[in-house]
Amino acid sequence: MKGTIVIAVREMVQQQFGKDAWTKALLEAGIDKEPAIAPSSMIDDKVVINVIQGICRTTGKSMQQFADMFGEYWVTQYAQRMYKSFFLGSKCARDFLLKMDSVHVSMTRAFPDSTPPRFEYEWKSDNTLIMTYKSPRGLMDIFIGLIKGVGKHYGENLQVRKITSNQVEIVFPKAA
Ligand code: HEM
Repeated sequence: MKGTIVIAVREMVQQQFGKDAWTKALLEAGIDKEPAIAPSSMIDDKVVINVIQGICRTTGKSMQQFADMFGEYWVTQYAQRMYKSFFLGSKCARDFLLKMDSVHVSMTRAFPDSTPPRFEYEWKSDNTLIMTYKSPRGLMDIFIGLIKGVGKHYGENLQVRKITSNQVEIVFPKAA
């Protein structure tokens, strides 16, 4: 997984739970000396998952609670600083989410070792979208947390519901 994800996780944990919580989470994951990480570094998926589990143990949060916090932090804070350009062309959550498949492909194209998550879209009605998450990483909670974060950023009350092991139904507010 790209280093940028871990950098955002670290920032969120240090800001919301304190620096000690981050150090403790790393220790829980068996890491006693934190390596230097750049946004483009590639970090073993297993290590990333271990660190996330360490964070959950250290902070007493469930995976779902962590994923919701991270999704909100990534979209409303970190990406606003790091990836602002992706938001400029999208005026609502619907436009932004529909771009996510191509954004992930283009963001990782320059890195042949990267395997971005892919998304498929199917409209059930005018305001109900089925979004399918395709990734061997199976980070469904994080996928859902990020969608909720997009709703928060655009100030839209999205209804997000898991309907199968890799599909989510998103109900957008009706256009006024
Ligand atoms: C500007 C916004 C975003 C940017 C720039 C971005 C970029 C990235 C990057 C670079 C990765 C690492 C990929 C890799 O290591 O191969 C990643 C992972 C991921 N992204 Fe995004 N992302 C954004 C928003 C979102 C949103 C809104 C969703 C959900 C709809 C999402 C879902 C995921 C998931 C689930 C992963 C974990 C990797 C996996 O499951 O395989 N991202 N993203």
